[in-house]
Amino acid sequence: MSNNLLNGKRGIIFGALDENSIAWKVALKAHEQGGKFVLTNAPIAMRMGEINKLAEKCGTIVIPADATVTEDLAKLVAESTAHLGGKLDFVLHSIGMSPNVRKGKVYTDLNYEWYQKTLDISALSLHKLLQTCMKQEAMNEWGSVLALSYIAAQRAFPGYGDMADAKATLESIVRSFGYYYGTQKKVRINSISQSPTMTTAGSGIKGFDSFFNFADKISPLGNASAESCADYCIALFSDLTRFVTMQNLFHDGGFSNTGISEAMMNEFMSK
Ligand SMILES: NC(=O)c1ccc[n+]([C@@H]2O[C@H](COP(=O)([O-])OP(=O)(O)OC[C@H]3O[C@@H](n4cnc5c(N)ncnc54)[C@H](O)[C@@H]3O)[C@@H](O)[C@H]2O)c1
Repeated sequence: MSNNLLNGKRGIIFGALDENSIAWKVALKAHEQGGKFVLTNAPIAMRMGEINKLAEKCGTIVIPADATVTEDLAKLVAESTAHLGGKLDFVLHSIGMSPNVRKGKVYTDLNYEWYQKTLDISALSLHKLLQTCMKQEAMNEWGSVLALSYIAAQRAFPGYGDMADAKATLESIVRSFGYYYGTQKKVRINSISQSPTMTTAGSGIKGFDSFFNFADKISPLGNASAESCADYCIALFSDLTRFVTMQNLFHDGGFSNTGISEAMMNEFMSK
């Protein structure tokens, strides 16, 4: 169903790897809502070729960019505004990767080179992207930038490793850059703290299945799906949320405000 919430708006969507990706669902919904956008991902992710199918469905192009490389970002932003025929109204940063988590390195035994990569890919890339957009004056007033986060930014979740530090930094960049971009250009910046979701990035975490089921049992509404996360992104890109900025917004079925659920208690009842 379309309400044309993004009619006349232009954007860039980072992070659609395959049809499970949160960014993939956002792209389909943004298209449905009348938005025009460019898709991008790291050159290495292009090899899978899946993103081209998405581009075809959305009637758009793919411009490869490594989000840690400022030259790539500068080219991407310049080419996107040229292709779309004007400044941007929405940007989705749906990027995350930790070599330590991938290779099973626990938080107390990190490889520090990989740690820096985790921070660069999963957090600093947002700063690099925002700084690039600001320098190129690429965003329209009241534009909306969204990043994806996880509650491990604020609470201890063993298994999430150094990604927790990356998400804490990401949420801080949302606040700090949100201040400057808001005062200078009325651009809003928020992060969505999403439930565990079955995607490539999600299932890279050790014991993800039990993690997923645990969150589902605690949350009064159950885990939020990637599909509903995409709906939330569209609402935040739209003009209906113009004064929301510098926030970390939980999209987690109530998980973050629940101590224990009856469903979970039942698991521990003596039989
Ligand atoms: N899946 C979950 O459980 C969950 C929960 C909360 C938040 N998130 C966050 O949602 C976002 C999207 O992840 P997803 O779950 O859709 O998984 P995903 O694996 O489909 O998406 C992650 C994307 O990051 C891209 N990426 C990695 N390195 C990059 C680089 N150097 N430059 C550009 N892109 C790069 C990947 O190619 C991929 O498309 C991430 O920020 C993730 O941390 C996921």
